[in-house]
Order: sequence, then C-alpha cells, then structure tokens
Amino acid sequence: MNTNTLNNTESTKKTGYFGIYGGMFVPPALEPKLNKLSEVFEQLKNNLHFVKEFHYYLNQYVGRPSPLSFAPRLSEYVGSRIYLKREDLNHTGAHKINNTIGQILVAKFMGAKEIIAETGAGQHGVATATAAAMFGMKCKIFMGQKDAERQQLNEYRIKLLGAEFITTNRGTGTLKDAVDAALEYFIENPDSFYIIGSVVGPHPYPSMVRFFQSVIGTESRKQIIEQEGKLPDSIFACVGGGSNAIGLFSGFLEDENVKIFAAEGGGEGLYPGRTAATLEMGKQMVYQGTYSYCMADENGNPIDTYSIAAGLDYPGVGPEHAFLKDVKRAEYHCITDNEAIESFKLLSVLEGIIPAIESSHAVALAVKLLKNKNALSIINLSGRGDKDVDRKLI
Ligand SMILES: Cc1ncc(COP(=O)(O)O)c(C=O)c1O
Repeated sequence: MNTNTLNNTESTKKTGYFGIYGGMFVPPALEPKLNKLSEVFEQLKNNLHFVKEFHYYLNQYVGRPSPLSFAPRLSEYVGSRIYLKREDLNHTGAHKINNTIGQILVAKFMGAKEIIAETGAGQHGVATATAAAMFGMKCKIFMGQKDAERQQLNEYRIKLLGAEFITTNRGTGTLKDAVDAALEYFIENPDSFYIIGSVVGPHPYPSMVRFFQSVIGTESRKQIIEQEGKLPDSIFACVGGGSNAIGLFSGFLEDENVKIFAAEGGGEGLYPGRTAATLEMGKQMVYQGTYSYCMADENGNPIDTYSIAAGLDYPGVGPEHAFLKDVKRAEYHCITDNEAIESFKLLSVLEGIIPAIESSHAVALAVKLLKNKNALSIINLSGRGDKDVDRKLI
C-alpha cells in the first residue's frame, strides 16, 4: 500500500479532503468564519509556543500521558496479549477533553466571546464545559432530549460546571439534532466559537480534531514499543463520529503490518433505523457540512439511527474514516447492543474497569476477532462507564 495516499498530499490536506471525502459544504454565511478558522489553525499547529501550551494543559490538567495498561485477565480469557489505552483515566473521564483543550486555546487566540458545543453521550459537553470553566469563558451546550434522559449524570455535571444546558426536541433528540441546533446558533451568533466534538463537520474540523486527538496514537505507539519492544499486530477503537479512533489510528497508519479495526454502534443489527453502523450501511453523500458516508433512505435523505450508546448514535461519520474504509486500511464492523453490554460486564469483572458503553463496542470487537489468535493488540478505552451504570444495562 502506498502510505502517501494515507497521509494525503499537501494540497488535499490544505483543502480538507481525505481522498474524495471531506470539504466544506456550508451556507455562505458560515464560509468566511470557517475559512478564518482554517487559516488560524494552520498557523497555530505549526507554532511551537501553541503546541507547547497545548501539551502543558494535557500534562498538568488532563493528566496525560494516559497509561497503556496490560490487561492480564482479559488477555487470558481471549487468548491474545491485550493492552488498554486508558483514556478513561483522563480528567472528565474520556478522550473528549484532549480536543476541547486544543480548540478552546484556538478560540482564545481568535478572541471568541462564547463557546458552544453539541453533545451525544454528554462526555464532550462535560469536557467543553470543563475547559470553558477553567478558561473563564461563557459556554452553551446543546443536547438532544433523548440523550439528556439516558445520560443524566452528564447533564448534571454540565450544569454544575456553570454552562448553559440547552436540550432540543427536534428529530429523535439525539446527537445529530444537537449538532443541527449548535450549527444554527453558530451561524446566527458571529462571536461564538463552535467546539465540534468529533472528526466530523466541515473543514477544518476533521483535520483540527484529528490533530488534537493524535496524542492518543503518538503515546500508544511509544508505550507499546517501550513495554513490548515491538508494534502491535492490531488496534481497536469504537467509532461514532470517529475522533477517538482517528486519534489512535493516526499513530499507526503507516505501519502496514498493524491491522486496524473499528466497531460501529450496531444497535439491533443491520436493519435501517435500528442501527448506527454508518460505514456498513450508509451512502456517500454530503451531511452536516462534509462529504462522507451517511445513513440515508433510497432518496438520499438522512434517516434515524439507533444505538444503545448515545456517543455512537449518529447517522454520519468522519470523512477520514470513509477514506480509510475505501482504501481498505481499516476494517469497520457492526457490534450490536447486546454484544456491547456483554463486554461492559466482561471488562468490569475481569479487570476492575467499568468502560463507557461506547468503548465497550471496541472491547466486544476485539474479543470477537482475537479469540485464540495469540496476537498483541491495543484497545482504545475511550471513556469510563460511570455515566452508564444507572441505566440498568445488566
Ligand atoms: C466515551 C466515548 N467514546 C466514544 C465516543 C464516540 O465519539 P468519537 O467517535 O468521536 O470518538 C463518545 C462520544 O460521546 C464517548 O463519550
């Protein structure tokens, strides 16, 4: 495989494309704002002072580097050597904070007066409200009504952190509806800065969120070499919009012998309306500002998704994942609710680690594919399961 294609050419990077996917498909009112953001981000990501400041907060506030923990009992159970990348140990309990710290520094640099964000599982909402509190900025979090009901702990945390919490009743009351509400507010309020929570949306978000989350992959690559003296045979992550997965994968894309696996929110199985397995069942189209895969009907209209995991319950997916699927650099698999619940229990009992229900999808895929393979593997544990324990999943 030509790894140059995986990294994109300079020109595709600049315009925000991953192969044919990505781009900036937005109303004219938003274009100048996003072009400015793109210009500023291009400068900042090459600015040593900015990168140093970002890493200062990752280190001192988030608690990075997160450990890469060997999971002895899970390894024995599966018959492979499994490590867990412990994003669940980050401040606020998920990978989302890596990105919100990065983007709030960009917002500060651009003189933004107000931070806004959408949230599905509530982890990105909590991470954004946290960063806004720390930097003393006004903050609004948009969340779908259904998600607010199934992730009540995070609604409480967001309010406690001083952010304004806005629920939306539109659509199915899930992540896509929260994105629509936040985008509308962003267009109408020129002084706001929209911290998107995943590698989705128009350029420059997929590249910018990737940049801030790539710390997961950079650390994991170094840690596995230190601990095992070699690269893993395979790596695993769950995919909603795809940010924790891109974060991990980015560290290994050029290592052709490292197999890359992603678990989508399969819901009740591969039936339209009952699943969120976008890359297995979706169509190539423009959705929420980017060209990628999206769950749609035969007329190309986006359709509702379903997954037990609010963070995976989204009809779109980041454009880089669409690209990685097409060039066959990563494999995307459907993990059902029941399989995820089994792994939620399994990891709790075997390792004393309660994973987020989103992360449990990655664990389930690894358990399935690694059985008696004697492989060396990393699973990205994108978050902890506190938010899911009162949902009576078991
Ligand atoms: C713990 C956790 N993992 C994974 C995800 C999915 O997001 P992404 O695919 O952007 O990593 C979420 C989203 O809320 C989450 O809270």
